[in-house]
Amino acid sequence: MNISPTLHSVSAPGKLILCGEHAVVYGYPAIALPVHGIRARVEVVAVEVGSGITFDAPDLGRNWRLRDAPDDPLSQVATAVIAHLGQPMPDLQLRITSDIPIASGMGSGAAIATVVVRALAGALGYVLSPDDVSALVYESEKRYHGTPSGIDNTVVAFEQPIWFVRGAKNQEPAEHLQVGQSPGPTITPIHITTPFILLIGDTGIRSATKLPVGEVRRRREAEPERYEQLFNQIGAIATRVRALLADGDITALGGLLTQNQELLQAVGVSSLELDRLVDVALGAGALGAKLSGAGWGGVMIALAQEDTVQRVQQALQVAGAVRVLTTRLERC
Ligand code: MEV
Repeated sequence: MNISPTLHSVSAPGKLILCGEHAVVYGYPAIALPVHGIRARVEVVAVEVGSGITFDAPDLGRNWRLRDAPDDPLSQVATAVIAHLGQPMPDLQLRITSDIPIASGMGSGAAIATVVVRALAGALGYVLSPDDVSALVYESEKRYHGTPSGIDNTVVAFEQPIWFVRGAKNQEPAEHLQVGQSPGPTITPIHITTPFILLIGDTGIRSATKLPVGEVRRRREAEPERYEQLFNQIGAIATRVRALLADGDITALGGLLTQNQELLQAVGVSSLELDRLVDVALGAGALGAKLSGAGWGGVMIALAQEDTVQRVQQALQVAGAVRVLTTRLERC
């Protein structure tokens, strides 16, 4: 197979969990949204024969050759893609850039792994299905996060709002559970009948997903009934949110997001900074607000309307958000 020396380039979006994080690890439903405006990108160029795959990732502050760091998670993604395609190791440089904040709940790891998968496949003349991309990235997510539900890699690979249910309810996070395998997840497109605006407030505090996910697992083991009740209520919220999005009832959506935040506080994954940004957003007129992603840091989201968006944005900035992004969810 000829590898084109010309530039090949791909991108993948960041993501938000609208509702259902953490409970989704245990088989309850969650809703995830792509954030098209902030993306990870890979440009591929052919390099000298015999170089193998090299990575240049200025935003991660890193530059390495696969053969020198075969255990690096992205090296392993690349190795898995080559094995999946049944190809010999190509000579390519992957230049990775990303505007998705790292360890912030916005799917930076999943998006970067996704672009590595797509870029390598594309450079070798293949177009992988979103399912295949998602399954390859899920393997990498397991290396980063330990026991991921698979929601992050799925929403990033499919690039559309999704309803995600991992598998049989109440199961322990199981190593063998994979996208595309039995008992696989239920992945359904979410219908949005009334466009809405989410503001994303970044606490600036980086928090690796696997830490709160591991802590929630320990607490659930210590207090199984309490955690089952909390997850049940979070799952019920996700079910109602899905119906409201289909009906276009955005006002009621706000209250459910705030209820979800209260449950996440009880689960133990919020933080003073997240609580503060949530309170400030509500005080400035947001219809609802919650943390998004694994928590303990990272981002929160606030549901705003055209006439409140600026006020909420300014309030978040004054309250110390290191950045405030706006994303518009369109009818789909
Ligand atoms: C992270 O975006 C969402 C969590 O529920 C973890 C997972 O689902 O793998 C916290």
